[in-house]
Amino acid sequence: MKNRFNRLTSKEWLPFQKSWFKYESDEKLLTENIRFFCRAEPGDEIVYYYGHQSELVQKICSDHDVQFAHYEQFKGESVQFACIDLRDEISSTTNLDEYLSLREKTLDLCKIIFESLVHRRFLCILVPNVQNGPQYLPFAWDLGLQLGSLFSLKDEKIACTPDQNTASTETIFTPSNKHFYCLYFRKDENSAGVLQERKHHFFENNIQTSSGIKFKGQIPSWFILKPAPRKKDEILHPAKYPEDLVTMFVNEFTIPNANVLDPMSGTGSTQVAALKAGRNAFGTELSDFFAEIASQRCSNIVQPIQKELFLTENHQRFILLNKDARSISKDDFPDIDYLITSPPYWDMLNMKGAENQAKRIEKGLQTNYSESTEDLGNISDYESFLADLTDVYFNILQNMKSGSYITIVVKNIKKKGRNYPFAWDLADRLLEKVILLPEVFWCQDDINLAPYGYGNTFVSNTFHQYCLNFQVK
Ligand SMILES: C[S@@+](CC[C@H](N)C(=O)[O-])C[C@H]1O[C@@H](n2cnc3c(N)ncnc32)[C@H](O)[C@@H]1O
Repeated sequence: MKNRFNRLTSKEWLPFQKSWFKYESDEKLLTENIRFFCRAEPGDEIVYYYGHQSELVQKICSDHDVQFAHYEQFKGESVQFACIDLRDEISSTTNLDEYLSLREKTLDLCKIIFESLVHRRFLCILVPNVQNGPQYLPFAWDLGLQLGSLFSLKDEKIACTPDQNTASTETIFTPSNKHFYCLYFRKDENSAGVLQERKHHFFENNIQTSSGIKFKGQIPSWFILKPAPRKKDEILHPAKYPEDLVTMFVNEFTIPNANVLDPMSGTGSTQVAALKAGRNAFGTELSDFFAEIASQRCSNIVQPIQKELFLTENHQRFILLNKDARSISKDDFPDIDYLITSPPYWDMLNMKGAENQAKRIEKGLQTNYSESTEDLGNISDYESFLADLTDVYFNILQNMKSGSYITIVVKNIKKKGRNYPFAWDLADRLLEKVILLPEVFWCQDDINLAPYGYGNTFVSNTFHQYCLNFQVK
């Protein structure tokens, strides 16, 4: 297929498609973006850049036969690629007021860029979220939502940096290492072209409190896992997460004998990891098929226990119920110290075209969780799905004490050419009742890249999963 989008060969195209990367230098980062988003015609294309690396970008542009437009000398000419680099203006001391004035300036800049950007061309914003003392401020998510009203929010890549965080304290959850966001917007037929303030709860009252847990500082802000191949019964499930992921979080967020819950247990990865780490494990799962697999896996570690015996028996235990997570009641489980879980990613498993789905069909494996209408993975309306999922978690809060922790593994979703920032939307809804802590990325490195959009437009392979972290208010 002819490449009408940029000057890259298909082999060069592929690595850029990965939705996370190990950041090495600004030169590499900016060169890769300019090469990806500019076409081959020498001299014709113009790159707009706002940020602290103007000199570097000017040099890269001249090395690659594209013109450079400095924001200070910009006269409103047509632009083929724009980059706003806010990394130098946001640090761990940036407070909300400072950010809001930077946001105003950035949105004004974006209005100018919108007028000049050629149809179906991209704007990239480089921006971090920030831990300022006990307050976590998701500036990148805010900008993503605000600008999504002007341009079309198309994609994101996570730049994983090896920088050590120095802000770590024993009682404030502060992951080591760092990451920043490369947010990608496009001016296209779906862009509204008008800025409309998008309301959210990201900045409301989210001050982390001390829970008495002394953090070991063993969670990095991004990590790669090499999970062992799945066993026979585990492979039957379309979307299992690795036990190692759970072990890592359980060890950080709980103490031995704590009660860990997963309301959507699947194959029981949460319970297996929690039991092996010397915690008690609880869960619900809608599908009787998967609930049975989960129970069996747990029984191989410890015997299940009746609720009535829970307080008297003095050994490890698990309870796994085959029921709808929306109907968990206070009597089902004892008080829960930590909730770690991963929900259906909306109805994405019903999109049979997805590459992974085709492979599973070929092998005769189940592609979705169930046909049940109670299955949240079968709700096709995005807002209803979000509302039901939020209810599941809010309902569980009645079994959790203030100060305890929650981890939810999710990702932002691309469906039929549109981007649904599911991770941000879910966090936004939950923040009514919980406090936001820094998100951590599980970066997947064991899946083959597909050349989505080759020669036509940018569509990344989403290989980063958000581990959203919260504390109960
Ligand atoms: C992403 S999977 C969880 C996988 C699990 N973490 C594992 O490693 O095996 C989501 C699970 O939610 C379950 N589920 C969907 N709707 C549910 C509901 N209303 N109540 C309980 N479980 C539900 C699905 O059957 C599926 O097993």
